[in-house]
Amino acid sequence: MKVFGVDIGGSGIKGAPVDLERGDLADERYKVLTPQPATPDAVADCVKAVVDHFGWTGPVGATFPGVVTNGRTRTAANVDKGWIGLEAAALLTERLGGDAGGCPVTLLNDADAAGLAEMHFGASKGRMGTVVVLTFGTGIGSAVFSDGVLLANTELGHLELDGHDAETRASTRVKDEEDLNWQEWARRVQRYLAHVEMLLSPQLFVIGGGVSRKAEKFLPLIEGIKAEVVPAQLQNNAGIVGAAMAARAARRPSALPPEVPATVPPSGS
Ligand code: BGC
Repeated sequence: MKVFGVDIGGSGIKGAPVDLERGDLADERYKVLTPQPATPDAVADCVKAVVDHFGWTGPVGATFPGVVTNGRTRTAANVDKGWIGLEAAALLTERLGGDAGGCPVTLLNDADAAGLAEMHFGASKGRMGTVVVLTFGTGIGSAVFSDGVLLANTELGHLELDGHDAETRASTRVKDEEDLNWQEWARRVQRYLAHVEMLLSPQLFVIGGGVSRKAEKFLPLIEGIKAEVVPAQLQNNAGIVGAAMAARAARRPSALPPEVPATVPPSGS
């Protein structure tokens, strides 16, 4: 079965039809640059351009880099503040042609989407217990799973760490802005993981975001964490795949409200 996934990020908006049996893109993904400022209207036009590129009609899942409950975007740490309190899933559905257009949009947090994809097809496939998937990029995103079930919108990137918002200390944006070397940045990530571990005692951390492609440069430098720490496997496509999974879950007859992607058990369980 194919469902369309779109990943709305700070620099790019990318999407593709997803093969949900394989957990992989069914076609080469298409990307447009995120408009600046990334107002809801401008982003909705880009989502339409990405979906139209494939001539897609059918369910669409989309990620958002902030809290999303029942299709409404609640926060906007790194995007235009016009998203706060917006019925964003409805706006995107309407932009894709409304009910007649046949592209109902399911929206969820970007890290939750990446986490779903890793839990079903990637680094934490089939893992029980507490699993924390973290995405390092412009901000820090988090997806927390208990026995394969997602607790949506955890926002662990904004934990206070040494008196600071954690993502202003340990995101990859900060690594670039402060020109930190791998050792210096790994120390900050280690401090952050230790803090999350103190709170949640997970069995497994999955480290995602673009930087997971360079895992060999920093994961070996992280010490003293009791949980296993592994790189994400789906890397850049995790958001697209997870968004498509969420859209499918939301369309099942028994589906609960949109944060529900959550309730999809890991494959093999
Ligand atoms: C946002 C999260 C998001 C993360 C990664 C944070 O600033 O608050 O919702 O998942 O960035 O994009």
